[in-house]
Amino acid sequence: MRTVAVSLGNRSYPIFVGAGLLSAVGRFSAKMELGRRCAVLSDDRVAGLYAKPVLAALRSSGFEPRLICVPPGETSKSLKMVQTACDQLAAHRLERKSFIVALGGGVVGDLAGFLAAIYLRGIPFVQVPTTLLAQVDSSVGGKVGVNLKAGKNLVGAFHQPRFVLCDLRTLRSLPPREFRAGLAEVIKYGIICDAPLFARLERGLSRLLRRDTKILAEVVARCCALKAEVVRQDETETGLRAILNFGHTIGHAIENISGYGKYLHGEAISIGQVAAAKLSTALTGLPPDDAARIERLFLRAGLPAAITLSAPARSRLLAAMQLDKKVSAGEIKFVLARRIGQVEPGHKVPPALIEKVLAPPRPAAIRPVLRRLGEGGN
Ligand SMILES: NC(=O)c1ccc[n+]([C@@H]2O[C@H](COP(=O)([O-])OP(=O)(O)OC[C@H]3O[C@@H](n4cnc5c(N)ncnc54)[C@H](O)[C@@H]3O)[C@@H](O)[C@H]2O)c1
Ligand SMILES: [Zn+2]
Repeated sequence: MRTVAVSLGNRSYPIFVGAGLLSAVGRFSAKMELGRRCAVLSDDRVAGLYAKPVLAALRSSGFEPRLICVPPGETSKSLKMVQTACDQLAAHRLERKSFIVALGGGVVGDLAGFLAAIYLRGIPFVQVPTTLLAQVDSSVGGKVGVNLKAGKNLVGAFHQPRFVLCDLRTLRSLPPREFRAGLAEVIKYGIICDAPLFARLERGLSRLLRRDTKILAEVVARCCALKAEVVRQDETETGLRAILNFGHTIGHAIENISGYGKYLHGEAISIGQVAAAKLSTALTGLPPDDAARIERLFLRAGLPAAITLSAPARSRLLAAMQLDKKVSAGEIKFVLARRIGQVEPGHKVPPALIEKVLAPPRPAAIRPVLRRLGEGGN
């Protein structure tokens, strides 16, 4: 087992990474001076796979857990679900020292964390992330919340968990598409702050895609350590934490205009990161070779690197970017790369350039024909 520390003064906590850790959730909780009653919040799919061992582990350490299930999917991150779940917490008589265990992906983690932030003005909670995205990203850092009709994550809080337990074995049951989507965040860490990790991913990608536990342990722990360091330096996102949004301005806009659900978040930010790499080549001197390596790695991971959009859809995409939560005073600011492993937030990008990097490349084969017809040109 690997342990990564998140250092935030009296809100510090450990992240445990290893195979077969679910059965240790009771033992770790017992060390935290928590009340006996607790709630395990999960979604129906994850609960069907993993609730039994988690409940058994908690019981054998003397806890009294109550399972609360929500339907799988983003729609469960709603204020309506908050109300329903709060009623269930009250029915189970959870009190100030009671705690919530978030067992599932980012949806469950964000919802359970938000419940823990507001129920009785805040009770402890524990993250047991079961998707790759949740293990390397959403379970670390304390951002919790739910969606409104007007947009994603518009109601929320900062509430840090007491510990995070990443059981790599749970990743084996993850649908391949969900696993690959998580890899988009993993690759992101390499691009934004860890060139050796990026090279490690290039070398070890096929083992990762086979979900080899050894490389997963190394990579998940490294990503958690990187996120922990960014969060330590900027817990409430006033500066540095923005670098985690590399590829997300375009990615969020793609999710938005295509209707949430068509693209998984990881797929949308894969396209967004490839586009951001091209913008970086144009504006911040990212070597074209680095941009090509970035595109290649996403493609090898089975992720999309481009999106085909009609001209009106491209305009809608640009309009959607203006609505991004990260926009301040009407200006879209991009995180751009100088090289693999080094990015900077706060770059203004002309809309025309964004359109250009998103425009489909002219197929190479027809270029000579066009040129012969006198329509080509560069
Ligand atoms: N708080 C943050 O800092 C942060 C960061 C990134 C993303 N997020 C949020 O995370 C959410 C996305 O998280 P996600 O990608 O984990 O999606 P998710 O929670 O919806 O899980 C994806 C699907 O996988 C299933 N699943 C989960 N674990 C499984 C397993 N081990 N085996 C089989 N199936 C499994 C779920 O039932 C679900 O259908 C979004 O709501 C996003 O806003 C939050
Ligand atoms: Zn993301």
